Amino acid sequence: MSLPSTLTTLFFFSFSFLLLLHANGGDSTSGMDAKELSALYEVLGALLDDPSWPQLHPHPCTDTPWPGVQCETLPQQQQQPDPFFHVTKLHVGPDLATPPCRPGAELSLSLLRLPFLKTLSIFGCFVGATVTLIPPPLFSSASSLEQLVLISNRGLSGPIPTTISLAGRLSVLRLSQNDLRGEIPRGVGELRELKQLDLSYNRLTGGIPEELGGLAGLGILDLSFNGLRGGIPRSLGRLCSLQKLDLGSNSLSGRIPEETGMLRKLVLLDLSRNSITGPVPEALSGLEELEYFLVENNPIGSGVPLFLGALGKLAVVGLSGCGLSGPIPSWFESLSNLTALALDRNRLSGSVPRSLDALGKLGQLNLSQNMLSGEIAFREDFVSRLGKRLDVRDNKGLCANSHLYFDTPPCGSSSLDATSSARTSTNSSSSAGAEPGAQQVSGRPPAEDNGQESLSSPLGSSLCWYLYLGIYAILVFL
Ligand SMILES: *[C@@H]1O[C@H](CO)[C@@H](O)[C@H](O)[C@H]1NC(C)=O
Ligand SMILES: *[C@@H]1O[C@H](CO)[C@@H](O)[C@H](O)[C@H]1NC(C)=O
Ligand SMILES: *[C@@H]1O[C@H](CO)[C@@H](O)[C@H](O)[C@H]1NC(C)=O
Repeated sequence: MSLPSTLTTLFFFSFSFLLLLHANGGDSTSGMDAKELSALYEVLGALLDDPSWPQLHPHPCTDTPWPGVQCETLPQQQQQPDPFFHVTKLHVGPDLATPPCRPGAELSLSLLRLPFLKTLSIFGCFVGATVTLIPPPLFSSASSLEQLVLISNRGLSGPIPTTISLAGRLSVLRLSQNDLRGEIPRGVGELRELKQLDLSYNRLTGGIPEELGGLAGLGILDLSFNGLRGGIPRSLGRLCSLQKLDLGSNSLSGRIPEETGMLRKLVLLDLSRNSITGPVPEALSGLEELEYFLVENNPIGSGVPLFLGALGKLAVVGLSGCGLSGPIPSWFESLSNLTALALDRNRLSGSVPRSLDALGKLGQLNLSQNMLSGEIAFREDFVSRLGKRLDVRDNKGLCANSHLYFDTPPCGSSSLDATSSARTSTNSSSSAGAEPGAQQVSGRPPAEDNGQESLSSPLGSSLCWYLYLGIYAILVFL
């Protein structure tokens, strides 16, 4: 073979190789279907405060990416090879430096022309004009949406549309800290893939739909800080994957259903600040994984629930303001994982079990505003460790023969009033954090709040911190 013919052959081969590359590598201009690209521009144009976004990002899936847009190619179909990139995730929020949201940001109907969108997440964007989820029929059975996360949009108002039940692939539905109103649609119970349902911090009303009990894969159910009424549905006992159940700060009434004890994986149960009555069913002894039991500010009105003694993983128990009477059970000492115990603002009587000082992880103990009596005499290192997070104030019959208990009168010397006894002992105090002048305990300690949406409760900020950590741990875990 002559040299020229070899060259020709070589040329021919490399040319066909290039052709092949071109055919498989997709459209050489944007890498995207033109209709999908224009839909993306319209959606972001309605959200972002930068009309030049399309010019700055002519190839948002390839050469000129933007952190809020994610694209994927589809797995190759047999018949029709799909060379295009498709938008699968859109995220807009203050964590993306530029551009910010438009003052009148809204949801564009063009979202429907992003047929491969799996995740839509919008944080702190709809703050000006009122936006609702109703006019854009965001949800259809064709929807590929798996995660809908709209958080901290105080302009996002109106109801949760009933059509949401059509978005059958949703696994994460988080609509927290908006201004949503109306009732929770029953159809949410048809979203069988749901793993997380968080509708907290809105203005939702009506009852908790019993249909939610059909969400067998649900790990997180957070409906806290709304205006929900009625009872806790028994059907929630069927949520066998549930790890976090937060119904706090609503107007729920009735008793805690026995079926709640079937939630074998539950780690956090928060029913605080409702109108739930007692007694708490002993069936809750089935909650073997429970670490957080928070029921404060409900008219429970029984004794301290006995089943708690069976739950060895308990870390935080909040039973403040529950109208509890009777003694503080001594079995609390067996809950060796306890870090915080709040029994304040009840009618507990009798003596304070000394054995509580055996709780090696306890960092907060609030027994204030009860009817406890007798001498309180914990081990000194326990009292020093807790410092002011040991609160036994406002128990008329309680006395202590140690200066370490703030505002507690000494036993057998009723002539000294509580405050002066605390003041005279300032010098000898060796307890951590008890500098002179820090003796007057005034209400709650300074907030350790970091600007997050407040989880504050009357338990004091340390307890909130444990709670916060716990919720964080659960979220990370999931
Ligand atoms: C404390 O928690 C650990 C870890 O969850 C667990 O293994 C242990 O059994 C718990 N303690 C008790 C007394 O149950
Ligand atoms: C209290 O402390 C001051 C200065 O630190 C000291 O002069 C005084 O003697 C102490 N009083 C007692 C009772 O220890
Ligand atoms: C204990 O509870 C009382 C009454 O609810 C509250 O005022 C106080 O701040 C709590 N103490 C601590 C240390 O959290």
